[in-house]
Amino acid sequence: MNFIFVRRLVLIKVGEFYAPGKIIFGPGGLSQVGVEAERLGSKTLIVLGRSAMKKSGALDRLTHLLIENNLEYVIYKNVPSDPTVEIIDTGTGLARKEKCNLIIALGGGSVLDTGKAISAMVTNEGSVADYQEIEGKGRKFQHKPIPFIAIPTTSGTGSEATRNAVITNTKLGLKKSIRDLCLIPEVALVDPELTLSLPPHITAISGGDALTQCIESYLGKKSQEITDALAMHAIGLVGKSLVKAVKEGKNLEARKDMAMAALLSGLCLSNSGLGTAHALSHPLGVYYKIPHGLSCAVLLPYVMEYNQPVVTKKLAKIAECLGENISSLSETEAAQRAVEKVKEILTAVGIKENLFGWKIEEEDFPKLIKGAKGGSLDNNPRDTSDEDLIELLYKMTGLY
Ligand SMILES: [Fe+2]
Repeated sequence: MNFIFVRRLVLIKVGEFYAPGKIIFGPGGLSQVGVEAERLGSKTLIVLGRSAMKKSGALDRLTHLLIENNLEYVIYKNVPSDPTVEIIDTGTGLARKEKCNLIIALGGGSVLDTGKAISAMVTNEGSVADYQEIEGKGRKFQHKPIPFIAIPTTSGTGSEATRNAVITNTKLGLKKSIRDLCLIPEVALVDPELTLSLPPHITAISGGDALTQCIESYLGKKSQEITDALAMHAIGLVGKSLVKAVKEGKNLEARKDMAMAALLSGLCLSNSGLGTAHALSHPLGVYYKIPHGLSCAVLLPYVMEYNQPVVTKKLAKIAECLGENISSLSETEAAQRAVEKVKEILTAVGIKENLFGWKIEEEDFPKLIKGAKGGSLDNNPRDTSDEDLIELLYKMTGLY
């Protein structure tokens, strides 16, 4: 009897997973900031957005806790959404001049990205523009950043858990990341109470961003078992609580679910990448100032539909995570159900099916496509040609 041994080539991906040094999660978690700060530094630069945190009393609580733990602080405020190279470089100059050895950012994704970038630039020479992922540029960080504590006040970008910061380069008309493992915050301090006063529209588009991040990382080429598990759990939380968080802003349980979903979405995207919705969202932010979460959310169902032929099984799983009963459906029907359910959730939170009102011009499509090229597009499960991008742009702009 002859035995024929057939060596099967099995494609097993090797995954790597990185997370913040410490994650503190839960209502009231802000009370731990003083102890954490004392452990990591003696003089801190507090990075803030506009005045919202001042009004809510969160800034007062933060400074009080720092003083109680013998820390000095300097405030860098009024960081706008979509921070520019100039905003980072100015903040870095202030942190160096004041000899800060710790950065604490309290705010939305833009504020966290600013704090993260400053923490790295304090110890590295040049402008942050030198380190952006721009073709032919992109210096590597030579020195470890100073410690960074990220305290999100929206539930969306997941920046508190990621290794990148998105920065607008106005000179080059680009929105590109700086990216390095050393950029992952030392501490991610997520206190859902800080999101209780977020207005419904911001809650909706931030949640849309978190959902897009989870789904894109779950479907992406670099998806892996650890982030798949996190993404599926987070998608379930969004399905359960996004509409509630938008309609009942003071519902702490719903806010907690969305804060967890956003944190998990950050862990997912940082380790497993994103996809075509994020790729197109960046140039839409640069050229039309469309809020990131909004463009991601509008693109999401179209990109899911586009990807369906290559990730049918995973889309069916998403339908299940979103609470749909798919037992009597075929895999293809279940996948389509996931797209419909995402549309239902987005409609329920007031996100329209296209961006027609933003008056996106057809003649700008070539530069939008050019701006979409890069890592996120490459990670999309189905290869996306320029013609495919044009098709998606027609759908999402409502120009059909
Ligand atoms: Fe995002």
